[in-house]
Formats: sequence, C-alpha cells, structure tokens
Amino acid sequence: MRSSGSLLVDNIGELVTNSFGEGEGGPLGIRRDAALLVEDGEVAWVGPARDAPAADRRIDAEGGAVLPGFVDSHAHLVFAGDRAAEFAARMAGEPYTGGGIRTTVGATRAASDDELRATVRRLRGEAMRQGTTTIEIKSGYGLTVADEARSLRIAAEFTEDTTFLGAHVVPAEYADRPDDYVGMVCGPMLATAAPYARWIDVFCERGAFDVDHARAILACGQAVGLGVRVHANQLGPGPGVQLGVELGAASVDHCTHLTDADIDALASTGTTWVSGFEPTTVATLLPGAEFSTRSPYPDARRLLDAGATVALATDCNPGSSYTSSMPFCVALAVREMRMTPAEAVWAATAGGAAALRRTDVGRLARGARADLMILDAPSHLHLAYRPGVPLIRQVLHNGVPQCRP
Ligand code: NIG
Ligand code: FE
Repeated sequence: MRSSGSLLVDNIGELVTNSFGEGEGGPLGIRRDAALLVEDGEVAWVGPARDAPAADRRIDAEGGAVLPGFVDSHAHLVFAGDRAAEFAARMAGEPYTGGGIRTTVGATRAASDDELRATVRRLRGEAMRQGTTTIEIKSGYGLTVADEARSLRIAAEFTEDTTFLGAHVVPAEYADRPDDYVGMVCGPMLATAAPYARWIDVFCERGAFDVDHARAILACGQAVGLGVRVHANQLGPGPGVQLGVELGAASVDHCTHLTDADIDALASTGTTWVSGFEPTTVATLLPGAEFSTRSPYPDARRLLDAGATVALATDCNPGSSYTSSMPFCVALAVREMRMTPAEAVWAATAGGAAALRRTDVGRLARGARADLMILDAPSHLHLAYRPGVPLIRQVLHNGVPQCRP
C-alpha cells in the first residue's frame, strides 16, 4: 500500500540518511535541522527545514531522531511450535548443535498453511513495531518438495526477499543417504521452490552440509537465477565463508569463527559505503544467536578494521535466536562486539540493504523508499544506550504510517 498526497516529516532531532558524504560525514550521513518529504511512497526531497516545501500532511517528529527502517536480512519466520525447553536446557549448560532443527521440521510439516501464515504475520508485525521495514524470510523447516514450496509461497506473501533453504539439514528420512537428499534439493525441490524465491542458502557446517554439497547446491540455484547466501562458520571454523566469496555471495552469515584468511577474503570484496554499493560479499553478524546459545560473539572489530562490509540481522528462529528485535541486536553489537553505535546502526540499515543487494532501502535520500522510523529519543546513540526500551515511536513503510506500538 502506498500513501497518497505528500507528507512532510519535520522537527527532526537528527536525520540519519546513510548517504555517504552527506551532513556531518561518516557513514551515517547525519543532517541536523533537516526535513524530509514523502510522495508516492518514496523520499521526494531532503533538505534544510527552513526550505521545506508545502505538503498535504505533516508529521512532527518532536525532536526525535529519524532513521532509515531496519533491514533485517536474515530471518527464519516460517515454522510451527517453539523450543523454549531446549533454550532452558541450554541455559542449564547443554550446548547448541542445531539438532533441534528436526524438531521444528516435524512441527512445521504438521501445521496448516493458515497456522504458518499466522506465525509469519505475528513475527512480521513484531519486527515492524521495532523499526524493521524490510525483512528477508527463509524456508528450511519443511524439507520436502511440497513443504519447502509452501513455506516460500507463504513467505512471498510478506516479502520480496525470500530464500530457499532446502539445505538447512538433512531430514531424518534421508539420514543415511545425504547424497540422495542433495540430488533432490538440486532437482525437484529447487524446481518447485525457485518461482517463489529470490535467494538460495545452505547451512554449510559440520553436521549439516559439507563444502562439496554446499557448492553443488548453490551452483544449481545460481543456474536458475537465484542469488547466493550462506550460513557459514557458525559453530566452528570451516570453508563456508570462502565458498561464499568464491561464488560471489551477497552475504555470508554468522561468521562467528573466522581465520585471518576468511577476513582477508571478505575484505577483498570491498567496503560498500566507500565503493558506493558495489556488490560486495557482506559479513552478516547475528548476535541474537550467540546470546541465545551462550556462545562467543563474532569479532566484528577485526572485520571492520580489515575493511569488510558488515551487516547485523536477527536470525529470528525458534531454536538459536527467537528475537525479532533489531534494536536488541544493535545493542548487543555495541556492548558485546565493540562496534560503535554508528557502525551498528549502519550495519542494521544500509548493511542489511547491501546484504540483500538493494539500493532502494536502508538509506533516506531522494528516490529511496520512504521506509523510516521516528525515535522517542534525540539520536541514534540511544538505541544502544537505552537497551530494552521501546524507543520506536512511529514507523513509515512505503510512506504509510504504521500503528503506534
Ligand atoms: O541460523 N544455523 C542454522 N540455522 C538456524 C538455526 C535453526 C534452528 O536451530 O532451528 C540459525 O541459527
Ligand atoms: Fe539462520
């Protein structure tokens, strides 16, 4: 849905544009005393408030900061059931192995379309109220031809960025013949899923898919026009990150256990905010997963200092990270991963857009989608400074004000 007529947002405490070279310099491109005009769902004008054009309607930001909506580039929202007991066991000392994925696969297969749709709607709503205006949604809890296709069909009702993750784990019925499962993923499952998917992803990890299987599956996806993303180096060091770079992946996700060679490979693909949206391979960090599995956090500082492009996302799923909150991930990244507040906000907005190879979101400049949030706080710093506080007063999606939280 798009808004009709023009809408002026003014009395802005701080406008984060993410437009390099704007305002005070630095990647956030902060402007003060600015106003922003929305027309036809897009940003039509950004400039000094004193020069603001007349508009049909006005939103008074009351001195609050205005930021691009969060771009959550990694979420698994199509599932049934929860794994709260598994979480409790972990907090009592059990390790996370990914073995619970099969539990969710069983519950998801048994659920109706409407039950799955209701869960996606609920989580999408939660995310939106916390400032997320773009979200990627993966399949991966169906793992049959029919269940993967319906997961993607339902995901596509909520987002353009749908990802086929038939290679999440080898399901129980294929446990002793993984080659057959990979053949099925590359054959009938991909053929049925591809019309609903923009991306293909593989969980490349010990206990899931090895590098040869992962390469074969991602290559099949590329051959039918899907973009590549990889779950890589989550539970231990491994070849996933370098496989992603080799295949020109838009993003390698988790990156919890990286060698110097992995970091060099990522950095060699470039820094998005300097290169002006060249297609880099983004390192997408998912601190909700380390929080919820009580694992060491990825070394964001090493990645940033080496010049890699970093994104932050929730990994929202019922096993390793049951949060839809990008502000929570920003706060974790600042407190636990030594990202500056500016780096974390950039990573959660423009970084997510880079990870989805999108130039229409994650920034507030003429021609971008009018996806933004207004904070009950004067600056982006407060997202990490005031953790757990509902600071998001209003969200505009395609220029349309959403309900107040
Ligand atoms: O990204 N690592 C693989 N997949 C998910 C977890 C899925 C689950 O535990 O249900 C992740 O963390
Ligand atoms: Fe994930």
